[in-house]
Amino acid sequence: VVPVIIDCDTGVDDALALLLAVRHPGLDLRAVTCVAGNTDVDGVVRNTLTVLELAGAPAIPVARGAERPLLEPARPARHVHGSDGMGDLGLPAPTRAPAAVDAVTLLRREILASPRPVTLIPTAPLTNIALLLRTHPEVTRNIERIVFMGGAVGVGNATPVAEFNVWHDPEAAAILLGADVPITMYGLDVFTRVVVPGTEVRRLRASAEPGAKLAGDLLSHRPSAPGTTPDDEEAGGLGDAGAVCAVADPAGLTTRPLPVEVSLAPGPARGQTIVDLRPRPGESEIHGGTRARPLVDVALDVDVTRYVDLYLKTVERP
Ligand code: BDR
Ligand code: CA
Repeated sequence: VVPVIIDCDTGVDDALALLLAVRHPGLDLRAVTCVAGNTDVDGVVRNTLTVLELAGAPAIPVARGAERPLLEPARPARHVHGSDGMGDLGLPAPTRAPAAVDAVTLLRREILASPRPVTLIPTAPLTNIALLLRTHPEVTRNIERIVFMGGAVGVGNATPVAEFNVWHDPEAAAILLGADVPITMYGLDVFTRVVVPGTEVRRLRASAEPGAKLAGDLLSHRPSAPGTTPDDEEAGGLGDAGAVCAVADPAGLTTRPLPVEVSLAPGPARGQTIVDLRPRPGESEIHGGTRARPLVDVALDVDVTRYVDLYLKTVERP
């Protein structure tokens, strides 16, 4: 069983990720930390606690983290995730409160207390993770790997070239990518491809089991993949939950170790992840122009059917 911690901005698809992590028998979800992103951080905390309750999870500690990126103001994605960050599904308020400690303190405590090295799964802007790595660098000794949803080899979503989580806090992403721990980048290139067909979504929505029904309602809120037919309009992407699939079943993902850099300069490329796919080093490396950075395992392909099946099979387990 893999000990995992999710750092999220719940968020419709973060909620799908939490449901999977709670129900997968191969994962031990030890804590959840919250950060501003899809909505403000207090909304994220509320949504996270509600989802864990509807999933029937035990009292997993949940902590409030950064309310804004390192340098810039927060820019919530309400047009994608609704005014409450959860698709305005009218979900109940949570009955329990978050942990008394902040996210960075909880992350440090849970990582160092784990009997086995922890896999961190950030599915949100990387502010909490950057603060953790800078404040408590000793945590890396008990981190197995960081599998983060963010970035893109190709096209972006927040801008033509930048993915939302990296765009929201590019400096934090740059700190993560410079860390001396194994990192997997689950970027938009695979993220957008893992879509649950409408027939399956309708079946989940009709379920009497609250967690499975919630998954169905959340999926039907997700934008359909381009090219889906009208009768498949309830089809929905797994989104962030794909990053959890990548931890539960790494064989479903094809990755390659590659140099990745975040564009930090102001202007149209800010927040872009520049992935070096060249077969040979270029002039700048030959002339010693680029500092050597740790390589990142970048996801280039995904077995869509395998991850959709994994999701459905797991979430329907009461
Ligand atoms: C990412 O941005 C958020 O809106 C989603 O929850 C996901 O983590 C996709 O770019
Ligand atoms: Ca997210």
